[in-house]
Amino acid sequence: MSSTGLFISFEGIDGAGKSTHIEALAQAFAQQGRQVTLTREPGGTPLAEKLREMVLHDAMDSLTESLLVFAARRDHLQQVIEPALARGDVVLCDRFTDATFAYQGGGRGFDLTVLRQLEAWVQTSAHGLRQPDVTVWFELDPAIAAQRLAAARVPDRFESQPVAFFQAVSDGYAARAEADAARFVRLNAAQAREAVWAQLHASLVQRGWLSA
Ligand code: TMP
Repeated sequence: MSSTGLFISFEGIDGAGKSTHIEALAQAFAQQGRQVTLTREPGGTPLAEKLREMVLHDAMDSLTESLLVFAARRDHLQQVIEPALARGDVVLCDRFTDATFAYQGGGRGFDLTVLRQLEAWVQTSAHGLRQPDVTVWFELDPAIAAQRLAAARVPDRFESQPVAFFQAVSDGYAARAEADAARFVRLNAAQAREAVWAQLHASLVQRGWLSA
């Protein structure tokens, strides 16, 4: 749990449509008088954004990829997330460690034991193991996501992967959600945008994080 702030991460395969909802949620929290820190991974600090460019565009093996996303996360936690939570902010983070378990662990098939070790090293602070208070998972059939992505931007190293990769990523998310069900809000991202938003808003109201 965060000491005073609220830490929410957003997850899902590429094309699941997280971004507009994260923006809307930032506005909803701000309207209720909360300070909001809106950030993303890999990224969120100058150093982590440089690492993001490498991870998204340079060829590398999956251990290197895992080390870089965790190096970016360490800097991000120290420079942005922990100070924001200590101030009492709502931190809305577009992806966090579940993405590493889903993409490097599920998609790339990298060793989960090593990932768990890196998670413990990078996320342990005086408060214990830092995890989001809530993780919103936008669940979408990889075939539908692929159709959405085909019409979008020039793909990076992940977006250009075949549907089977994203199925493995989804399985990685499912395993994380099962292991820590209380932390996860699962949204059906195949619904119309308004319906996804209604489900997201209601789930946070129900948990007492947002007022109706
Ligand atoms: P984004 O496009 O949602 O900002 O995410 C960037 C890409 O990086 C996305 O394809 C997922 C991938 N990624 C990982 O592979 N491992 C990670 O730990 C994170 C945070 C993202």
